[in-house]
Amino acid sequence: DVADIGVTGMAVMGSNLARNLARNGFKVAIHNRSVGKTEKVIADHGSDGEFYPSESMSDFVASLQKPRVAIIMVKAGGPTDAVVDELSSLMEEGDIIVDAGNALFTDTRRREAALREQGLHFVGAGVSGGEEGALNGPSIMPGGTKASYDRLGPMFEKISAEAEDGLPCCTHVGADGAGHFVKMVHNGIEYADMQVISEAYDMMSKALGMEASAIGDVFADWNKGDLESFLIEITAEVLHHTDATSGKPFVDVILDQAAQKGTGAWTVQTALDLGVPVTGIAEATFARSTSGSVPQREAGRRTLSAEAQTLEIADPAQFIDDLQKALYAAKLVSYSQGFDEIAAGAEEYGWDIDLGAMARIWREGCIIRARFLDRITEAYGRDAKLPLLLSDEYFSSEIAKCIPAWRRVVAFAAASGYPVPVFASTLSYYDAVRAERLPAALVQAQRDYFGAHTYQRVDAAGTFHVEWSEDRRETEQD
Ligand code: 6PG
Repeated sequence: DVADIGVTGMAVMGSNLARNLARNGFKVAIHNRSVGKTEKVIADHGSDGEFYPSESMSDFVASLQKPRVAIIMVKAGGPTDAVVDELSSLMEEGDIIVDAGNALFTDTRRREAALREQGLHFVGAGVSGGEEGALNGPSIMPGGTKASYDRLGPMFEKISAEAEDGLPCCTHVGADGAGHFVKMVHNGIEYADMQVISEAYDMMSKALGMEASAIGDVFADWNKGDLESFLIEITAEVLHHTDATSGKPFVDVILDQAAQKGTGAWTVQTALDLGVPVTGIAEATFARSTSGSVPQREAGRRTLSAEAQTLEIADPAQFIDDLQKALYAAKLVSYSQGFDEIAAGAEEYGWDIDLGAMARIWREGCIIRARFLDRITEAYGRDAKLPLLLSDEYFSSEIAKCIPAWRRVVAFAAASGYPVPVFASTLSYYDAVRAERLPAALVQAQRDYFGAHTYQRVDAAGTFHVEWSEDRRETEQD
């Protein structure tokens, strides 16, 4: 019982996390269902630090110092349940089991409740940053009890990425499934970010006929300004990359069907349950579904005419500048919607989530790391209960600077027949959330007509219904 912490599941993420811990001076117990992978970690990376390999789960648990901390890094769903069951049967009161995979937060809540009954702490921890981040410093979003964080936090803060100001990209998010909830929304925002970048790329490619590498130059340039972020940076790199086999731009030889493992869809499903309009994330997720709808796309290509006319672009430099602003505005809306979802989740599940701190721990390590996240932290610093991130003085003035360009881009795309689901839906949301009056009034009237669903009036308190099929008299409901 010497190891400070253990990791079970030695696929790339698990082994990289174990190596990161070892490199930071922790004694790390490691385990994998098939022993070959454990042996390979020792053979290839044993020199990273002090590892304590075990062949069986019971030896693995026995090798841990009390209170024990064991991290699970296996596939979400059934495989995680199986490992949780096995581990928990071997652990003792006060021990901590951490699920560092991309689990659905409701599963985490269920597991946490079950393990709490046994006196164990179950921590769902979001870990972002891909393979590279796991090894060199991810952003870590742990949920679970405060007591578990007292034991875990110092280790996680040490191995997480460090922001420019020296602060770690890890903090206690909130009870039970809060960590996985926040990681889920992080991924939803990631989907929206990737899609808006792709929409800007698509317009440069189709409307301006630019080559991939020239578009890469534009992204490299954008990465020097407000848009500076990991995703913009890697986009420039990808667009500059030439395929070795064909000699063509790499992006041009990739099949245009985007895959997804589910976290974006979870974000949207959860948002629907909570009644939060995350339209940017939803459209980004559906854009992937559309790209993968092969028979529908084939049928559409054969039968659907465009009746569109690509408008002439008199000033390509101006158009590119417009795209940059449209991208920034659509991104701000997507983030604002994502933070709304976190706030709604916190409210629903009783989590005390510091929204500003979430933006703070996303500044480095994670996939959506970006310069502008500091601005989100500052906004919640001004008002922790901000009802709408966009309404903060900084964001409302930033987005105002983008609006004419954003409208030009969406109008151009619509007239020319180019799909821009996130550019367009976020602009619609912007116009809806700022509207004095919405056509929801008519929807309410329709609902009352066909289903006696009732409505409220602008000029009187109470709930009303019109006797539509009789004398159309208005009645007040109790
Ligand atoms: C991260 C990533 C990571 C994973 C995505 C990919 O934060 O490190 O989000 O979790 O790469 O979930 O998701 P899709 O396969 O659904 O694109």
